[in-house]
Amino acid sequence: MQRDQLERSRQAADTALKHVSSKRLQTAIAELARYGGRDDGGVARETLTDMDLQARRYLIDRARAMGCAVEVDDCANLFFRRAGKTDRPPVMTGSHVDTQPVGGKLDGAYGVVAGLEVLQALQDAGVQTERPVEVVVWTNEEGSRFGPGCMGSSAYVDPARLAGYRAARDGAQLSFGEAVDRALQAIPDVPRRPMQQPLAGFVELHIEQGPVLETAGVPLGVVTGIQSVRWYRVKVTGVAAHAGTTPMNIRTDAMAACIQMAHRLYAEAARQQASGLRLTLGRWVVSPNSINTIPGEVEFTIDMRCVDENVLAEFDAVMRGIVQDGAGRTRVVLEAIFERKPTHFPTAMTALVEEACARACQLATKPAPLALTSGAFHDAMYLADHCPTAMIFVPSKKGISHNALEETDHGDLFMGAQALAYAVTRMAGA
Ligand code: GLV
Ligand code: MN
Ligand code: MN
Repeated sequence: MQRDQLERSRQAADTALKHVSSKRLQTAIAELARYGGRDDGGVARETLTDMDLQARRYLIDRARAMGCAVEVDDCANLFFRRAGKTDRPPVMTGSHVDTQPVGGKLDGAYGVVAGLEVLQALQDAGVQTERPVEVVVWTNEEGSRFGPGCMGSSAYVDPARLAGYRAARDGAQLSFGEAVDRALQAIPDVPRRPMQQPLAGFVELHIEQGPVLETAGVPLGVVTGIQSVRWYRVKVTGVAAHAGTTPMNIRTDAMAACIQMAHRLYAEAARQQASGLRLTLGRWVVSPNSINTIPGEVEFTIDMRCVDENVLAEFDAVMRGIVQDGAGRTRVVLEAIFERKPTHFPTAMTALVEEACARACQLATKPAPLALTSGAFHDAMYLADHCPTAMIFVPSKKGISHNALEETDHGDLFMGAQALAYAVTRMAGA
């Protein structure tokens, strides 16, 4: 980039940053949180449920009111586009608006709402960027209703994945394909566009969902990468029988076998604590789930993660041994549902995000941004396969997320959106 061009894009980035409105951002966060909002302050808006479809409609209307063109693709990913001076591949930001069965107002939603705030700031500042800027709403990031997670973003970068995803079923046996078709039918006014379109870059703004930034007293984080993750489903089949009449020594109790496995898995994870290994057995389905019947079938999920891929691979081998030996007389099926090696964002992108965060911190006279690895996975993990990608984090109070109590200081949310405005404008050029 020429010196004067770089200077122009820095000035435009600074102007956009200064037009971000904290009040408008807070209003938009609260408005979106009404869709699936709960009395305890949380949000229940799992992917492609009626609540999610209503939230999508609200966002489409809001983006159109701002003058954006709206498009959707075959995985129901939504795109809100502010035109550039040229039609070159756009700069993209955004995140997801689906939540865990009970989540907070900010996980994903913040990145989408802040993306729209950036478009509004550009508008108010009278900045016309060289490249278009798009805000995306990725479908099913959470993976709680239909597994795996990040379906929308991973299908965008490799559309061949979509056929397999369409067959995934939720707890009520509805397929992801049927849910996507329903979502598309609900917005006949939104034109369809192909997936895998070229992008100049992707920047995702997200809450940290962990304690690192808050503990350090730093308002903004430059994310250098994302740790490895593997998901499994374990299905244990025993024999359902009468709880009162069946002697203990002749039972084939699926739950007893699972409890033994769980104890051994947690003990092994505790041994690996120093290497940062994380283990969660998050979803249990017990059949027939009756007080006086021995469980005949139990299914549970394993979520395991680590920054060190070698530690995760070793734990994986131990986990397989434990699951197979713990079976007793039961039958065990282990199914892999998701695997992702560590993601490393390119240094040119982390440097750009660092510049953006440093500017927001300097204006607020706050400590300089901190570099950190993400413990959670994000859509940016897949976008990194497709285009130059980066992420910005803001702190999470008490490190809590995937919980109704998820919260971030308003000033930090404001600074995150300012840094996003700067980074996006720098990338889009002016
Ligand atoms: C995303 O929600 C994750 O589980 O990391
Ligand atoms: Mn998220
Ligand atoms: Mn989440």
